[in-house]
Amino acid sequence: MAPSTTETITQTASQITVLRLTGEGEPPASTGSIIAGDQGPRYPRYYPVFKLDEKWPPLQVFDHKDPGARADPTKPHLLTGNVKEHILSPFIGSEIHGVQLSQLSPEGLDELALHVAQRKVVVLRDQDFKDIGPERQVEIASHFGPIHRHPTSGNIEGFPEFHVVYRDANHNRFFDRRVKERANHTSWHSDVSYEKQPPGTTFFFMLEQPPLGGDTIFSSQVEAYNRLSDEFKKRLEGLRAVHSAVEQADYSRRENGPVRREPVETEHPLVRVHPVTGEKALYINQGFTRRIVGFKVEESEYLLNFLFDHISKGADFHIRASYEPGTVVLWDNRLTVHSATPDFSHQERRHAVRLTPQAERPIAAAA
Ligand SMILES: [Fe+2]
Repeated sequence: MAPSTTETITQTASQITVLRLTGEGEPPASTGSIIAGDQGPRYPRYYPVFKLDEKWPPLQVFDHKDPGARADPTKPHLLTGNVKEHILSPFIGSEIHGVQLSQLSPEGLDELALHVAQRKVVVLRDQDFKDIGPERQVEIASHFGPIHRHPTSGNIEGFPEFHVVYRDANHNRFFDRRVKERANHTSWHSDVSYEKQPPGTTFFFMLEQPPLGGDTIFSSQVEAYNRLSDEFKKRLEGLRAVHSAVEQADYSRRENGPVRREPVETEHPLVRVHPVTGEKALYINQGFTRRIVGFKVEESEYLLNFLFDHISKGADFHIRASYEPGTVVLWDNRLTVHSATPDFSHQERRHAVRLTPQAERPIAAAA
């Protein structure tokens, strides 16, 4: 179905013009300022743009050298004397105070890649990152790999690398209808795992946040793998699973959104090996993994459902990352799955941005 309205909006506060696609069922937008008495997004430069005529060719395979492989394992450029690290769980997650991401040297960024791989999730507090501008943000994130351009989500004018996650009282795109149908709102996934070279070190930072709620929960796919018996691990290694972008693209089309690149389906090993740490991790997720190659339908569903259940129930290898003003959360998308927790008021604005550097083609664990 054709879009109902595409309109140009001038954000008077900043004089920045953005395009907003108003989908069916949403009231026509005027400024993105929906909340009574509200002046609009605090960061209008990052207001999501959905251009239906934006079309991109398929992604090209590239040679990825993980920056973590270059890092000094003692991390002298990252973990200096002023740094305080709070371990969130033995298996996953560190909260770090005293590191300024925007000031890290190339060596420091290499060490950060290694640290994120080892800890799976790193929560950096008190960052100026959200205020350094899109050029510098892209430059820093590009240290970790070419930044993925999302085929369906909102990006920002002039910077297709930004994946914008935006909600306010009237802008609940991709969200509310789905949430209403569900008894809980947990949706475990790793980002864009359908790509041939899915993301590695991934950046997520909040521009504007609700006073309560909106955390992200993470699960370690390394520990999920480690908990399995040796016999079961042996059966999994060597298997491959299909990850699909088709449903996401179909959903976007139904919601009058863009499909900038034709959706792909990719086979990945069910157990992958991290190129730097050598750790093995389950590489399946409920969001995008659809079937196990060579299995009959019932067999595939049986095994995938067991693994999805195992991952989602593993509260002893989960963490919850909270956001404060200035927080940047980094995760290794190869070793984790995550879910939003949309528990905040629908009247509040939540405006976040993801930068998603791609990494290597998943390396299969030896069978
Ligand atoms: Fe995600």
